[in-house]
Amino acid sequence: MGYNTWYQFRTSITESEVIRQAELLVSSGLAAAGYTCVNLDDGWMAAARAANGELTGDTAKFPHGIGWLAERIHALGLRFGVYTAIGTRTCQSLPGSWEHYDQDAAAFAAWGVDFVKVDDCGGLPASTTAETLTEHFREFGACLRQHNPDVVYSQELPIHQIGKPSFLPAVRASAGFSHMWRVAHDEYPLTPQNASPMILSHLAAVLPLHSFAGPGHWNDLDMVAPNFPASGWTLADLRNQLSVWAMEASPLLISADIGALPPGALAALKNPHMIALDQSGAQCSTMTGSGHISALMKPDPAGGTAVLFVNLGTGQATGNFALSQFGIASAQATAHDVWTGETTALSEVSVTIEEGQTNLVQLKEA
Ligand code: GLA
Repeated sequence: MGYNTWYQFRTSITESEVIRQAELLVSSGLAAAGYTCVNLDDGWMAAARAANGELTGDTAKFPHGIGWLAERIHALGLRFGVYTAIGTRTCQSLPGSWEHYDQDAAAFAAWGVDFVKVDDCGGLPASTTAETLTEHFREFGACLRQHNPDVVYSQELPIHQIGKPSFLPAVRASAGFSHMWRVAHDEYPLTPQNASPMILSHLAAVLPLHSFAGPGHWNDLDMVAPNFPASGWTLADLRNQLSVWAMEASPLLISADIGALPPGALAALKNPHMIALDQSGAQCSTMTGSGHISALMKPDPAGGTAVLFVNLGTGQATGNFALSQFGIASAQATAHDVWTGETTALSEVSVTIEEGQTNLVQLKEA
């Protein structure tokens, strides 16, 4: 859990802005809620490596250097992350780590970097196959761990291969050597109209991958609250996204101006029940359905079963479920809404949901 610069700043990041966001993480209470890692995304590095091959920060944006910034972030009680790429260039055509895996891993460790995101943007030899790409990622991970055994290794899988036969073996391999791997596309376009389709398509992308997730290794659906609220997303969109991410146990990396988050968004991001579900140690694996309403479930660490109802059809829809479909043997149960905090008693479950919307509840035997 933490913060990432990408959707807020793209490549226009500076050390003072990053420190400001880190301070806001603390003063907003988000750090106390668990969002403790401050990650630079693309755009921090100089346009070319130094003469000795070293990767360095862009001195116009980071005049004191990346090691200094790491110290400042650590002094706030937070962890610090950087971004690089597996090939010769990043997605913004800045220097990537190809042929420098060990050198960069050593530099990151010397700077005090706790988290490394390695993107997949090309700039690899033409002979590269899905299998050799996996080997490059494995090798870079080994270098990172050798220089810093506690590093968190975040890997971006070749997301253009989602749905192709080569994707599943890549996920399987990643589960053995990285802590999190991207399994969903970027969240573009960031418009109110695209919020629901994007959030629900990410849900579909990750459902079949639940067996690869577990403590220390997670399917990564990308960042949360992307440029919220400037993106035009509503609080309902944000809650939908957090509900899906929590059920899928995806990392929660906020990518928005923390100072511009309205109280409702801050409360949603800090919702202890949502966070507990996200961090519960498992991704949901079971799904049932009624008409256009699907219901995904996993054990709720607060007791009973957490159920995410989703309307995947067009128009408003109603789903009717027996309690037994959620593993409840008693005749009566309670449903606790994770977002409103309301608890209702019921003997069967009937939910009416608008198109593209979700409902996250905890169901317990009464
Ligand atoms: C890719 C990644 C994004 C971000 C950008 C940076 O698009 O998917 O998360 O890191 O590159 O250029």
